[in-house]
Amino acid sequence: MSFLGSAIKSSGKPVTGDNFPLFNSSKQMELQKYTKRAKPTVSPTLAELLMHVDDAQNDASGNNTPVDHRVLELGYACSSLPSSQPFVLSFNNLTYSVKVRKKLALPFCGEGSKLDSNEIHSKILLNDISGEAREGEIMAVLGASGSGKSTLIDALANRIAKESLKGSLTLNGEVLESRLLRVISAYVMQDDLLFPMLTVEETLMFSAEFRLPRSLSKKKKKARVQALIDQLGLRSAAKTVIGDEGHRGVSGGERRRVSIGIDIIHDPIVLFLDEPTSGLDSTSAFMVVKVLQRIAQSGSIVIMSVHQPSYRILSLLDRLIFLSHGHTVYSGSPGNLPHFFAEFGHPIPENENRTEFALDLIRELEETPGGTKSLVEFNTSWQARKNPRSGFSCKPNLSLKDAISASISRGKLVSGATNDSNLTSSVPTFANPFWIEMIVIAKRSMTNSKRMPELFGIRLGAVLVTGIILATMFWKLDNSPKGIQERLGFFAFAMSTTFYTCAEAIPVFLQERYIFMRETAYNAYRRSSYVLAHSLISIPALVVLSISFAATTFWAVGLAGGLSGFFFFFLTIFASFWAGSSFVTFLSGIVAHVMLGFTVVVAILAYFLLFSGFFISRDRIPLYWIWFHYISLVKYPYEAVLQNEFDDPTKCFVRGVQMFDNTPLGAVPVSLKLKLLQSMSSVLGVNITGSTCVTTGRGILVQQGITDISKWNCLWIIIAWGFLFRILFYFTLLLGSKNKRR
Ligand SMILES: Nc1ncnc2c1ncn2[C@@H]1O[C@H](COP(=O)(O)OP(=O)(O)OP(=O)(O)O)[C@@H](O)[C@H]1O
Ligand SMILES: [Mg+2]
Repeated sequence: MSFLGSAIKSSGKPVTGDNFPLFNSSKQMELQKYTKRAKPTVSPTLAELLMHVDDAQNDASGNNTPVDHRVLELGYACSSLPSSQPFVLSFNNLTYSVKVRKKLALPFCGEGSKLDSNEIHSKILLNDISGEAREGEIMAVLGASGSGKSTLIDALANRIAKESLKGSLTLNGEVLESRLLRVISAYVMQDDLLFPMLTVEETLMFSAEFRLPRSLSKKKKKARVQALIDQLGLRSAAKTVIGDEGHRGVSGGERRRVSIGIDIIHDPIVLFLDEPTSGLDSTSAFMVVKVLQRIAQSGSIVIMSVHQPSYRILSLLDRLIFLSHGHTVYSGSPGNLPHFFAEFGHPIPENENRTEFALDLIRELEETPGGTKSLVEFNTSWQARKNPRSGFSCKPNLSLKDAISASISRGKLVSGATNDSNLTSSVPTFANPFWIEMIVIAKRSMTNSKRMPELFGIRLGAVLVTGIILATMFWKLDNSPKGIQERLGFFAFAMSTTFYTCAEAIPVFLQERYIFMRETAYNAYRRSSYVLAHSLISIPALVVLSISFAATTFWAVGLAGGLSGFFFFFLTIFASFWAGSSFVTFLSGIVAHVMLGFTVVVAILAYFLLFSGFFISRDRIPLYWIWFHYISLVKYPYEAVLQNEFDDPTKCFVRGVQMFDNTPLGAVPVSLKLKLLQSMSSVLGVNITGSTCVTTGRGILVQQGITDISKWNCLWIIIAWGFLFRILFYFTLLLGSKNKRR
């Protein structure tokens, strides 16, 4: 193998577009032969990029001596390894199975009629997979759909629970602690989860603000982003928004590269990617893999899954693992594929795409009765013959701790870390303190919302329309017994509407939720900063919504209390919006689908209204349902605004002559009503005239069963509900975003 023997090349070129062969001359895009391939001239590492903008480490440590960063060309023999040990990720005998219910075939109901039985058996998704991935190389996992590619990537990326995964995973001979792996690695998901209204440059800049330490000045972060934009070939799209279904944005290939960019901004040592090229045309796919090759050559291990690599992509891959039903059917370099299949008795014809041939052959074998067993066995014996030293692991000269420290001092994991004696503390879990994370999250969210004013516009429109409809329906209500009934109806409807309008935010929360999960899985920021930032930035919008609703209804309906009454009415509506949005946020943390989210919110709010005390007052609610009355979010704002309306002791709502309204006697002439009052007075022994006040506001509150909590306490309770749901939201994120398979 021409790889044998390692040459050490040092690179000290300045960062210019010319250093990126892919994006410049077409000559440089020429493919390398994959059998005897010499590595291309080493492209500038991210560390160097940083050094050229004034090295990050100098910033953090005050050490101004430039570090000579060397990139290693790797050989496969231990003896050839240079003294500074490159990273080697080894995995041995990885086995992972899941429990599945057995299907029972129904003999009389034809093919396909199967029932779930209670019999549980285990399905092996990964069967004794071993291999090695090295710094400077791309290891690709290939196989048909369902062969276990994503599962293997997940196993390597520590996304499978420890208890379920058998086998070992080591980096430079040392078992990888999951906390450490999270910090030194990145996982690029198949889906591009990005804020649609941020530009490519902004997206990368926010990622830089999250993942690069505070010790790095803004100027350097910007320079890092610019270097990355060049490295990813995104220069021409830098100022374009990402876009979504409703807004035109960057192309699919560019979006893919942005997704990769945000995860490699801190220059991770190990990079996992699940099908980074899926859905891309061959040129875009090639460009993506070319970028990955450059990342690998800057001193990282790149492990990716790929469906069917083109001839050109294959030339960029260093190691392949072919899987079939969770078994390894080939493991080795692309160059060895022809020998392997020739020895197996199926030589690859000239001019045939090797991977296509291999995948087709594997599929054919899968369809035979013996399956791929013969190929699996042949691979095992072939491996034993070709790599008699496999199992023997090169003893690294450097411990993992020292290797990571050395890597950091070369500018890797741009984290401003110190060479601490404790390995895990040498790499901080989060790049920034809590408050910086909060500011960046808030800034990003506000930038995105500002570019989509229609989202807030729709919410404001819905609130205003509801307010105007209510204002016209309940125009200038009087204080007659009928007017009182109408006021009660207005309050019940208005208070539940504030909650319903919050439900509109579900899709927004859900969209953000996935971005959040991706970002927190690899420690971009703390979950708590997200929850707090998210809560704080929602407040200004809620204030505007509450003022709009309160102002359109308060005077139009003729509510009581003057300016102070209006202020309390506004506060109650604001608190309801706050509690409602917290409730909806919490629900979006547990319900992952938009439609399901709407259904659950609407149903729960309907129950809240039912138990609020409007339809049945508290003293008449059956005892076994009373708990629901107390958890009804609508109860508290309803009671608060009723007290605000009716607590004036000087105000009378029903006078003597109005006692007969809403009764069959309501229709009799007033003179007769006065006579009735006179006779009632003589029977009762009290003087009730036509103008005697028989029901005060207080009386109405008692009739409605509103006697236990004062209006200010109601307000505090609503606000407290809001906080409670935010705290619950935090816990759902904590528990629900583990991102691990069981
Ligand atoms: N929790 C599970 N229970 C049962 N089977 C599972 C489970 N998770 C995965 N599988 C099965 O494991 C196999 C491997 O899945 P995996 O997602 O790794 O395939 P893949 O090679 O990545 O396929 P694709 O190319 O389509 O992405 C599939 O047959 C899948 O149905
Ligand atoms: Mg997959």
